[in-house]
Amino acid sequence: MKFPPGFKFGAATSAYQIEGAWNASDKGRNIWDSMIHKNPSIIEDGTSGDVTCDSYHLWREDVQIAHDLGLHFYRFSISWTRILPTGFPNKISKDGVRYYNKLIDELLKKGIEPIVTLYHFDLPLSIQNLGGWTNPLIVDWFADYARTVFLMYADRVKTWVTINEPMIICDFNYNVGNLVPQITEEFLGPFICNKNVLMAHAKAWRIYDENYKEKYQGKISIANNPIWLEAQTEKDEELSERAREFGVGRYSDPIYSKEGGWPPTIEKIMAEYSKKQGFPYSRLPSFTDEEKKLVQGTYDYFSLNHYTSRLVRSARADEDPGLWYISGSRELNLVLEKDPQWPKTDFVYIVIQPEGIRRQIAWLNKRYHNLSILITENGLGTRSSDNYDTGRIHYIRDHLKQILLAIKEDGANIVGYTVWSLMDNFEWMFGQSMKFGLYDVDFSHPLRRRTPRASAHFYRNVIKHHSLDVPHPSHHWDKYRKTYNNGVTIKYSNCFLVLLVLLEHIICKLLLN
Ligand code: BGC
Repeated sequence: MKFPPGFKFGAATSAYQIEGAWNASDKGRNIWDSMIHKNPSIIEDGTSGDVTCDSYHLWREDVQIAHDLGLHFYRFSISWTRILPTGFPNKISKDGVRYYNKLIDELLKKGIEPIVTLYHFDLPLSIQNLGGWTNPLIVDWFADYARTVFLMYADRVKTWVTINEPMIICDFNYNVGNLVPQITEEFLGPFICNKNVLMAHAKAWRIYDENYKEKYQGKISIANNPIWLEAQTEKDEELSERAREFGVGRYSDPIYSKEGGWPPTIEKIMAEYSKKQGFPYSRLPSFTDEEKKLVQGTYDYFSLNHYTSRLVRSARADEDPGLWYISGSRELNLVLEKDPQWPKTDFVYIVIQPEGIRRQIAWLNKRYHNLSILITENGLGTRSSDNYDTGRIHYIRDHLKQILLAIKEDGANIVGYTVWSLMDNFEWMFGQSMKFGLYDVDFSHPLRRRTPRASAHFYRNVIKHHSLDVPHPSHHWDKYRKTYNNGVTIKYSNCFLVLLVLLEHIICKLLLN
């Protein structure tokens, strides 16, 4: 049950989900600020990221809880419009830069490695107004932003993620539209976006590679979030492989395969299907040789976010495969289903099949030849804010077991694991009603009090012993409950900070009035 020496444990968050301070200083507006202010009812509980965990002010508390957990690293993201208020490099925000400097320095002071994501769903509104991820010019705009961020922090940040979950940004958004910016366009949207995201990632990777890698010995990659796609019956195996190429390969082959470019099978299927639909060209835009070369090989590790699995079967004769959040259901005439045996969760999208992560890793290793894999997200969402969260403990433990098996039985090179999330936060369309935190956050408390759940105690023990062979917190829960019943008591040393934050709130209120 021991993890290999050097295996690292962390937890993750993202800027819009935790920072709040949506208009602090000269921060520019992003798509979430804009869409939610226009129509708050798009969010299930009517909340927003305006304040959320208030990490813009309470970052010291975040670092403290990361330290209390014994994390080796903390993965957070940078808000594009906090650094570049217009979205473009004509203006750099001094306050924005200062905020992340403080956070990074404090993490390093406590011995926690910062892992920084450049982009986690919070596109500048200015860029969305110009077509967002479907405008090919975004490739250079993202590169400008990346260049600025590297210049500020590359001396201290050694692990980078360029873009979080392109499959969500492109397929999910343009097919289902159930995230912001809520624009659906199933024919070209997912595919143009797919190409632009990969190109943007590649440019940022090359800027880092050419200017900083040697000097600082850092690494940088893109975070993919494959859903493990499993054949429902043996006869669906070939179809499932096509589905994996569609859902995972389309976002990974151009970077990780020896040949570069789209998965050839998918390129062919898309060309034929587009023709059938009357398009005089393929809906999957091609790469020129130069573009292929630009993207190919732009990785230093594989950043894997994993939550769940689906079964694949071919659609019945009278069945419309429908439009699913991974593109390809119509083109491949397939249906994705949840196995009724897999336990359901409060988050409809996540059903629990821990073996899926091991199979996904095996698939990636077979296709891309023994990658160094960092699990950059894995976690469970619950509607209940009960701090005795045994469900989350089991979810994390069962996935870690499969990761150990992947390492020990399959020879996978997995270098670390990240829980999503360090604390409850703004869970996109669910707002504050869906909780992923190792720490509960009291959103009605002015200081957004953070309280460790049983899962936090469990995870801290796993980290401390570097092993899964740790007692279930139920053995100690009474002791923990007593200690933490009233939340993390604010330490005297933090009183000054508390006063400052309160003062800042009062001054803001007065100014707004
Ligand atoms: C995203 C997070 C999100 C989590 C749970 C991941 O795909 O990166 O931002 O909160 O899923 O939905």
